Amino acid sequence: MAPRYSIPDSVVAAAILHDIGIHEAELKYKSSAGHYQEIEGPPIARAILERLGLDPERTDHVCKIISLHHHVRGLDTPEFRVLWDADWLVNIPDEYPGWEPERLSPIVKKVFATNTGRRLAETRFLTTDVPPAYSKSSSSCGRT
Ligand SMILES: [Fe+2]
Repeated sequence: MAPRYSIPDSVVAAAILHDIGIHEAELKYKSSAGHYQEIEGPPIARAILERLGLDPERTDHVCKIISLHHHVRGLDTPEFRVLWDADWLVNIPDEYPGWEPERLSPIVKKVFATNTGRRLAETRFLTTDVPPAYSKSSSSCGRT
């Protein structure tokens, strides 16, 4: 049976590699701040992707996504939006710990770049009548 949909290689690669610069950032700057990740991540990701044989166009795109994954600056592709929203879904509890739904609502409306991401965030963070498996959870990785 053929899959109903497929996830582009560039989304998978960006999802796996977007935080690849953390260790190097910590070594060089004693900080894993997003800005440093965006500097250090792309060269490491590029080396990996080239070794894996990903084509140059997609490699460039993934590296661009990694270089912007904490600060949107002029990249608006579907692949970027998916990574952006997935990262926010994981990291909102760490970015806004303990915030009540009323206070989080404008954040959710503002930061999500896809309708699906926004709907998931609304379900996860703005409603209180959902099963525990879908309710707020703390992330151990922070906004990384
Ligand atoms: Fe990150």
